[in-house]
Amino acid sequence: MGAEQSTVEDDSQPATEIKKLTEVKFHLQGVEHVAKSENITPNTSLNFYLRNILKMTGTKAMCLEGGCGACLVVLQNKDPITQKDVFLAVNSCLIPLLSCNGWKIFTIEGIGNSVEGFHPLQEVLARFNGTQCGFCSPGMVMNMYALYESGKLTMQQVENSFSGNTCRCTGYRSILTAFKSLCTDADFGILRECPDVEDLVSCYKERCARKCSTDCNNVSKEPFLLELGEIRWIKVHSLKDLLRTLRINPQATYRLVAGNTAQGVYRSYKDTVDLYIDVTEVPELKDYKIQGDTCMVGGNITLTIAIEFFNEVAKSYPSFSYLKAVADHIDLVANVPVRNRATIAGNLIIKHDHHDFPSDIFLILETVGATITLVNVSGQETNISPIDFINCDLRKEPLVIKTINLPSFPTTFKYISYKIMPRAQNVHALVNAGFVFKFDNSGLLQSATIVYGNISVPFVHANVTERLLAGKNLFDNSVLQQVYTSLTNELDPDVRPPDPSPEFRKKLAISLFYKAVLSIAPSDKMASKNKSGGAVLQRPISTGSQDYEYNKQKYPWTSEIPKLGALSQTSGETKYVIDLPDLPFQLYGALVLAKAPANSVIRKINPDGALGREDIVAFYSKDDIPGDNVFTILTPLTTSEEQLFCDGRVRYYDQPIGILVGKSQEALENAVSLVLVTYDSPNVEPLLTSRQVVKEGRTDRITQYKKNDATRRGNDVKHVVKGSFDIYQQYHFHMENQCCQAIPEDKGLLVYASTQWMDLVQCAISRVLGIPESQITVMVRHCGGAFGGKITRASLIACATALAAYKLKKPVKMWLPLTTNMTAIGKRFPLSTDYEVGLDDNGVFQYANVTHYTDVGSQFDEDISPWFEQIFQTIYTSDTFTTSYNRVVTDTATNTWTRAPGSVEGLAAIESIMEHCSYASGIDPIQIRTANFSNQTPILTYMNDMKTWANIDKRKADIATFNKENRWKKKGLAVIPMSFDVLLLGPHLATVSIFHGDGSVQISHGGIEVGQGINTKAAQVCAYKFGIPLEKVTILPSHNFISPNNLATGGTIATDGVTYGIVQACDTLLERMKPYRTEGAKWEDIVKTSHDNFVVLKASGLYTPSQPGLGNYRVYGVCAAEVIVDILTGQHIVTRVDLTEDTGISMNPILDVGQAEGALIMGLGYQTTEKIVFSYEGKVLTNNTWTYYPPGAKDIPVEFNVKFPKDNPNPVGVLKSKGTGEPAITLAIAIPLAIRNALASARKDADQSNPPWYRINGTTDVENVLLHTLSDPSQYVL
Ligand SMILES: Cc1cc2nc3c(=O)[nH]c(=O)nc-3n(C[C@H](O)[C@H](O)[C@H](O)COP(=O)(O)OP(=O)(O)OC[C@H]3O[C@@H](n4cnc5c(N)ncnc54)[C@H](O)[C@@H]3O)c2cc1C
Ligand code: FES
Ligand code: FES
Repeated sequence: MGAEQSTVEDDSQPATEIKKLTEVKFHLQGVEHVAKSENITPNTSLNFYLRNILKMTGTKAMCLEGGCGACLVVLQNKDPITQKDVFLAVNSCLIPLLSCNGWKIFTIEGIGNSVEGFHPLQEVLARFNGTQCGFCSPGMVMNMYALYESGKLTMQQVENSFSGNTCRCTGYRSILTAFKSLCTDADFGILRECPDVEDLVSCYKERCARKCSTDCNNVSKEPFLLELGEIRWIKVHSLKDLLRTLRINPQATYRLVAGNTAQGVYRSYKDTVDLYIDVTEVPELKDYKIQGDTCMVGGNITLTIAIEFFNEVAKSYPSFSYLKAVADHIDLVANVPVRNRATIAGNLIIKHDHHDFPSDIFLILETVGATITLVNVSGQETNISPIDFINCDLRKEPLVIKTINLPSFPTTFKYISYKIMPRAQNVHALVNAGFVFKFDNSGLLQSATIVYGNISVPFVHANVTERLLAGKNLFDNSVLQQVYTSLTNELDPDVRPPDPSPEFRKKLAISLFYKAVLSIAPSDKMASKNKSGGAVLQRPISTGSQDYEYNKQKYPWTSEIPKLGALSQTSGETKYVIDLPDLPFQLYGALVLAKAPANSVIRKINPDGALGREDIVAFYSKDDIPGDNVFTILTPLTTSEEQLFCDGRVRYYDQPIGILVGKSQEALENAVSLVLVTYDSPNVEPLLTSRQVVKEGRTDRITQYKKNDATRRGNDVKHVVKGSFDIYQQYHFHMENQCCQAIPEDKGLLVYASTQWMDLVQCAISRVLGIPESQITVMVRHCGGAFGGKITRASLIACATALAAYKLKKPVKMWLPLTTNMTAIGKRFPLSTDYEVGLDDNGVFQYANVTHYTDVGSQFDEDISPWFEQIFQTIYTSDTFTTSYNRVVTDTATNTWTRAPGSVEGLAAIESIMEHCSYASGIDPIQIRTANFSNQTPILTYMNDMKTWANIDKRKADIATFNKENRWKKKGLAVIPMSFDVLLLGPHLATVSIFHGDGSVQISHGGIEVGQGINTKAAQVCAYKFGIPLEKVTILPSHNFISPNNLATGGTIATDGVTYGIVQACDTLLERMKPYRTEGAKWEDIVKTSHDNFVVLKASGLYTPSQPGLGNYRVYGVCAAEVIVDILTGQHIVTRVDLTEDTGISMNPILDVGQAEGALIMGLGYQTTEKIVFSYEGKVLTNNTWTYYPPGAKDIPVEFNVKFPKDNPNPVGVLKSKGTGEPAITLAIAIPLAIRNALASARKDADQSNPPWYRINGTTDVENVLLHTLSDPSQYVL
């Protein structure tokens, strides 16, 4: 502890009078709003209040932990120094409503809507096709609104500011382009697309002027107290009041409420306490200034202010120039909206409470030797180091973090820090590191500070190494070797799944030391090829091109028409199931999950603890099901009747065992754990992967479902290549979690389901309830993303909800929290493949023996085999392949179709084999592929076109030169072909009605709008067929009465099916109206005359696999991906992707570009950042946004070019088109193979004798890359 400093304790003085309030007042969209305290608890978030109390559902909810950005709203503040208006995007899910007193809040509804006019930001996002399912769109708009209203913007700022907004559909390129078009430095090409920039200037002010009855800027500065039963919420405006409040409540459990973001990391910060003290406006805690040689910042300044202030100080004070690097590091903490609220003190308290938390703030402060000024309730101040702070006992007495004091550094001191993350932004560190090297005048080290995060719970400093370095020459290779030995000895990372392995964390920590030295070593002391190792990867602003054709004559078919409903999505007006109005007496449901490993047997379920709560109404398990305990049925594509609720033997950890029903979602959250379940423990350990099953010899779990024998074997075997390939689960990450609303009707139920398969929901509910299918009505307006996760799994949620509604005769809504969604529901099918290939000297396959194991999870239900087998065997001549296809049952949730199921895994497997063959034989990867291409496909043409279009040969040569010149940065390139079969399935029904009054048209069809644009294409085709403007066509929600018995939307076929049905229906109607179509007659008149003659102006068309003129078809494509890899960290940037995809005659090229881009980025995530980790018991540990990482806006290719071949009709496609929803995701395998290509050069540099190929187990993530570099500290030389 540092020296104690006494301040005057001011007990004699009365504290500021604290007003008692019974309501919270704030401005919402510029209008004063009063929230009565009876509706509120300290845990009531602004998001809950907006959505559930005010019914303003434009603001969405998804993760509820600050990780996804669906819930963003904007706060308007005055900057205390400049007095300028400041607009901040914040996560409404993390803001307690009670904090909002005196605030000015804008939500998506307030900035623009269909009544008062859309905001230009809403328009621009729609116009650039930056929305697909639309669930992320309001959050995207609000983030941009805050940026835009805060001042002039550059493209760099936009590019850097969307880290907190996840979009699973678009692949971000279109969103970034839309918003960059508004920047001062926008490219001319996109600038001309943007709405009149004048429209954008301070729209809020105009609205305010119209609406405000009170002065917006008169924010209340008075302290207040709100009593909520036993709980008190006090807002203080001075440190004195804060300390007094703590002093006079010595027995109370309390929490200081600053940004309230800690609960996004640890749920325990949501636990109720007696006293909440809002410290967001305590000037002493918000101050920041330079005081002599100290940079002082208040404990509760936000990370955003800290970044701004540190950047300013670094510019103005040479002795604080290191703060620029500190600001850059803080810029990597969390994301913009979280940083706008999160404070330094709050972060330090998390680190205090959880030593395993990899706090970047603690790391920085400890590295620079900052001190923390704590103040106790008597006003006594203590200065303490960060490390002493996290070890001090805060239970003894309440202590407030008042200020943080950062020292100045002479220019001979060097500060360097790193945060290594699994993706570019918005994720905690895998390892973080901070170094301060203090040099004396002779250039030797006076001392060194070495701090690492995420090594082990107690580890902070590399003390031994720090001591070793004192007085040494840092730029001496022998000293460096001593350092590595010392670090190797003192770094002992713990095992901490789902964090990466100790081996990786240790290797990374040592590499970071070397990187830091390279970053400051004098140029003349380093070999030139090592220099680039000192820099972190720098990402330029991303760009992209889209090359396609469209035919104006055929308007609106083939036209670039933005998605219908895009404006409704970007303005938040689109209603998803959870946004539907609550009904009188409505209840909520929550799944209760088995918290026990597979093969445990349920002995007893006791829900009494939960049912004893006032707000809990019922609990139902398998015993309460009147019909059958199933949620899937047998169909040509589904093979099992899966249990709705566990029937006794637990099949996987977190299997649903029942549904708890209560009066609110909040009540359920707290009560689910009160359903007590006792189990008989299993006597076997769960088998979680195919490899484990095979290793254990559990042949009872392995089914060979197909074997293809080679019909030919070559005898010119010059190379034998043996290997194995493994790839694991992928979570769908649809932004709208699984949800359903079921409403009892006279007989049966009306069900609003977020499903891709209405028919399954209807059939399964009928089975569960034991009532006729005719008593179940299913309606689907659209899903907020699905990606296959809502084909069969949505039926589980629907059946459970329907059961509760049916039994209670009350409407019930169920929305799965993200963790439940990620644990209870299966994912992409993992694949393990063993292979042996014989090649001749040209790389031509002489034979290939391949065994595949597809992990189906705990039960085989959904079939992926047709797509898997096709993609594995068609692109290359496969008559020499002997292939065994096996299904393996594991103790994990039943896996389920996920975008391009089977195809993603199949292409990844064959292309990895190809690449292995290339490495093993030394034959160029493109050449070896070309040598084996089947002549049954035109893929060679596509490949050759790619070589020219993307300048492959020249770039390969450039890469070779770069790699020769750089030891620690490597570039790589891979070019991957694809032939993707679209298999005709059905039925899909489409119904078209024409109205006699004005000739307008309605469509309802059996497909589901999941973001792919099926409704837009349906309307386009209909308008084209009738020759009418698109505006005349309206699409109704999908409804099982209008479109009964339809197959699921998935497999890239529903749009084909529905548009085919529309063509048929339109043809029927045109035929019926033919007698009344006279030369030059207007459409409206033809319709009217037809109606007057009793023509039935309604017709349906059905798409089935046997329709004339249609057939299965192939989608061809090629992807060239280039990456740069940091060999010292394992990180990479995808520098360029060129993608060609065959779309036939695209019905709507901009929608198809969106599908191709979005698919590729979902694949990029699967291949490089997304990883599901299980505990040894089989519990999914990666079950939230803190642990599972779909790509963000800065993970996409820096340059992303998409091209659709022109004049390329599909003879057997609907209107000569091809489907685009899935194929491109398979091509993302190009990215890990490009990374391998880069790694190959590093491995060669490291050890010529090592085999160039190696197995990567699963995702090619930062960990897997670094662990395969073959580098070791002996190579870490200057
Ligand atoms: C999505 C997300 C991503 C994140 N990523 C990172 C990351 O990459 N790196 C990283 O380091 N952190 C990360 N964080 C953590 C983030 O920095 C902290 O949540 C934040 O700084 C906490 O500050 P707060 O003001 O919100 O604290 P609050 O949640 O308001 O409070 C947290 C605790 O601090 C106490 N407290 C607050 N102020 C004081 C004070 N002045 N004196 C004493 N006690 C006080 C409160 O009593 C409470 O117990 C992330 C958080 C989220 C939600
Ligand atoms: S719902 Fe608030 S950030 Fe995800
Ligand atoms: S459009 Fe972004 S998540 Fe669907």
